[in-house]
Amino acid sequence: MEIPKFDVAVAPRVGPGVAAGVDETMIRGLVETFYERVRADPFIGPVFEAAVADWDEHLARLADFWSSVLLASGRYKGQPMAVHARLGGLGADHFARWLELFSDTAAEVWPGPAADLAIAKARQIGESLQLGLAFARR
Ligand code: HEM
Repeated sequence: MEIPKFDVAVAPRVGPGVAAGVDETMIRGLVETFYERVRADPFIGPVFEAAVADWDEHLARLADFWSSVLLASGRYKGQPMAVHARLGGLGADHFARWLELFSDTAAEVWPGPAADLAIAKARQIGESLQLGLAFARR
């Protein structure tokens, strides 16, 4: 009997977003709408306006980030912890507002299961970023 071969090295990596129907077009749409709202926000908007020089580049990088998180595309190569540490002075209230805007936007522009997944991931990542920042400050 022939034993079917399964080559792990060439097996495609499937991200958690695939089953929830996430695709690259949806990611781009979410990222664009979310950062429009972030920029307009009186509390966290100014942090971004002070730090981001090139918004096209920022949006492309964040689309790569979410594509890596949700679709396992591996496109994002960066160090979010170091980037946020460099911003200085980010607190729990910044993260809470960020997550509130992200959750509202995802729930509005994405179907339920995809939005739930993205929100859960954002919450997890936000928590680990905050933990990392707290340690870096010790
Ligand atoms: C779950 C929460 C968050 C996630 C997942 C997240 C994710 C990211 C990622 C992936 C980048 C790109 C980093 C790179 O250049 O490689 C970034 C950049 C940035 N984030 Fe966040 N972030 C979060 C929360 C926040 C909060 C709360 C703030 C401030 C209120 C913030 C402000 C910024 C700014 C200003 C940049 C651009 C920095 C620069 O280009 O110099 N982020 N974020």
